[in-house]
Amino acid sequence: MFESAERMNALPFSGIRVMMEKATRMQKEGTDVIHMEIGRPDFDTPQVIKQAAFDALARGNVFYTSNYGTPELRQAIADKLLRDNGVAYRPEEILVTIGVGEGTYAAMAAFLNPGDEVLVPDPVWLNYIHVPHFFEAVPVSYKLREENDYQIDLNEIESLITEKTRMLVINTPGNPTGTVQSRETLEGLAEIAKRHDLIVVSDEIYEKLVYGDAKHVSIASLPGMKERTITLNGFSKCYSMTGWRLGYAAAPVEFISAMVRVHQYINTCASSFVQEAGVTALEKAEPDVQEMVKEYERRRDYAVAAFNAMDGVSCRTPGGAFYIFVNVKSFGRSSAEIADWLLEEAGIATVPGSAFGPQGEGYIRISYACSYERIVEGMERMKAALAKLRA
Ligand SMILES: Cc1ncc(COP(=O)(O)O)c(C=O)c1O
Repeated sequence: MFESAERMNALPFSGIRVMMEKATRMQKEGTDVIHMEIGRPDFDTPQVIKQAAFDALARGNVFYTSNYGTPELRQAIADKLLRDNGVAYRPEEILVTIGVGEGTYAAMAAFLNPGDEVLVPDPVWLNYIHVPHFFEAVPVSYKLREENDYQIDLNEIESLITEKTRMLVINTPGNPTGTVQSRETLEGLAEIAKRHDLIVVSDEIYEKLVYGDAKHVSIASLPGMKERTITLNGFSKCYSMTGWRLGYAAAPVEFISAMVRVHQYINTCASSFVQEAGVTALEKAEPDVQEMVKEYERRRDYAVAAFNAMDGVSCRTPGGAFYIFVNVKSFGRSSAEIADWLLEEAGIATVPGSAFGPQGEGYIRISYACSYERIVEGMERMKAALAKLRA
């Protein structure tokens, strides 16, 4: 038997995966499971994007590309960042990655030394907690509190900074709360980052999924911030392309030239025909994205109202992404117990908030990336199951 490396001892499977496996097992055994645990869109990838990939394959676009990504895609990303985010990048300042997952790894591998501290949200997309450990760096959590509408608390950030703090990770719109950080919050963070000379990693993968009055602001667009920000983004969520594995990092050339060295020894490059389809996504798929956004907003509005009408349950109205973080503290049970109950009693798969960090205890995350009809049914079933739990 071969023992895995010691670092693996601190590397658990994610709580989301555990829940998905349990839900899938029950489904195979005949339970009608409503999947509200999954962080992936239920829509097919827009046809215009799929056609671009078919055409690229038919034309024989099947070979390695530059490690950095194709010139066409890097240009299209630079154009997009100017158009949508108000930040002027040259193509040399773009690295095409295998999703934001790889972008996260490359950013941390390239810039974290042993003992460096990284400020990360709690609750959080777990990569930001686990990836620093590969480099013997230390994630230090800052809390996103419901009573503060999950906005980042600037005083808390200040109080957590030490001489070892090197990086600040932000995620807006955020997983798992769906919160869009306000311009004011981001301006405050920008001042702190400049004062303490921090690198900011800004995960903007949900940027186009914003609703109502919520506006997405890229922190790199604020004065003096492009110089110290690694913006991570990708195609998974907004274009419904999770399985295509395509993303990018945008940052000054010194950042990109370090990150590409990590990337070249892991992935060489993103798939050639997928990159070609990525250009089409950026240039032609905006109407498809806006259709999806409209439908997500309709589902969000329904689900938020339904939760707030349930006994002992409440939630904020998230401005973005496709998650609702639901407060179930009144039941006096752990969030894992509530999630288990909902699955076993009502066939509703959710994720316990504790899977995203200690601050998530007392909440469950539901994803409304499933059909409106299933959401309506899910809310009915959840209401009945929770009423039973209280009885
Ligand atoms: C905040 C956040 N960043 C990144 C990702 C993964 O992105 P990708 O599919 O581009 O690796 C997810 C997926 O759930 C996420 O929630």
